[in-house]
Amino acid sequence: MIRPTAYLAGTGRGIPARVMTNHDFAAIGIDTSHEWIVERTGIVERHIAGEGESTCSMAAAAARMAMSRADVAPGDLDLIVLSTATPDRLLPATAVDLQANLGATRAAAFDLSAACSGWIYGLTVAEGMIAAGRAETALVIGAEKMSAIVNWKDRNTCVLFGDGAGATILKRSADGRGILSSFMRSDGSLAELLFRPHGGASVPMTEAILAEGSHFVKMAGREVFKAAVRSMTEAADRALDGAGMKGEDIDLMIPHQANIRIIEATAKHAHIPMDKVFVNIDRYGNTSSASIPIALDEAIEAGRVVDGSTVLLVAFGAGFTWASMVVRF
Ligand code: ACO
Repeated sequence: MIRPTAYLAGTGRGIPARVMTNHDFAAIGIDTSHEWIVERTGIVERHIAGEGESTCSMAAAAARMAMSRADVAPGDLDLIVLSTATPDRLLPATAVDLQANLGATRAAAFDLSAACSGWIYGLTVAEGMIAAGRAETALVIGAEKMSAIVNWKDRNTCVLFGDGAGATILKRSADGRGILSSFMRSDGSLAELLFRPHGGASVPMTEAILAEGSHFVKMAGREVFKAAVRSMTEAADRALDGAGMKGEDIDLMIPHQANIRIIEATAKHAHIPMDKVFVNIDRYGNTSSASIPIALDEAIEAGRVVDGSTVLLVAFGAGFTWASMVVRF
């Protein structure tokens, strides 16, 4: 019998009000169609940050909701782990802006960069800190303003992503609830299938880079698709094995929301029927590391995750990174 060290005590989400539908791409000169996007990805609309909305502001909204639901005050937080591929500034971390915004004066705070797998990576790190006796209460967030790093002239990528944040409070577990297993992997040899080629420290920003747009996300979609299916199915297997479970034992799978076809392939492999899979990609697109915590928050609100539920979380992202977890609520 696995004795979990830490449990998810509360969740929240911070979502920009502005909605962009598939039909809105025509107005910005993108040669695509609602039918193409729905058939290939499952996406119908996505939220896009408006004036003044930042990775930190979305994270703060999500964090306040999660803290209120977990009955946690800012001063109770020992640790803030903010997963993001879209930090507001490159220095310092967005996590410290969030720490100041929340008034979490006792918390250590840092950003974590593992793309779409980052929130599960973050939960695993925070769980380890709790297990080591270095923290009692942690805030783990996935927050992304993908609209700031996609090339709005590239139809291969700009239709796929959306903005938002999802937050979770992790606390020491005493009653058998919590993280039953976790798994993380990476393969940097495939980094250039999904990356931002220029504008970082190795090739700093120039006017030429700005003009050609090589600081934006670039993706080899078909190759990424294949790697995603391979990695997500492996991740599902490994988390289930770690918990001593089979797909049939899972009440709900909450996968990273990148593409409905990747989700369906992962569910089929794990022997989990689609009515036990949470899908909200139609309303959010791919919000990178925010996608699973946003989906979890919606699943709890919808009554699809209740006390006693066993949930499989599975993610895949740029890097490549992939990760998974079985959690008992
Ligand atoms: N509208 C219309 N046509 C388009 C669009 C668009 N928005 N985008 C691409 N096309 C065209 C392509 O140009 C191509 O045309 P061509 O054959 O004349 O060259 C055609 O559609 C087919 O392109 P494919 O790449 O074969 O389409 P596919 O069925 O593979 O779907 C997609 C593309 C949706 C990108 C898919 O490959 C995919 O989802 N890949 C994985 C993406 C992913 O998961 N990324 C994120 C994971 S990690 C993270 O979240 C950071």
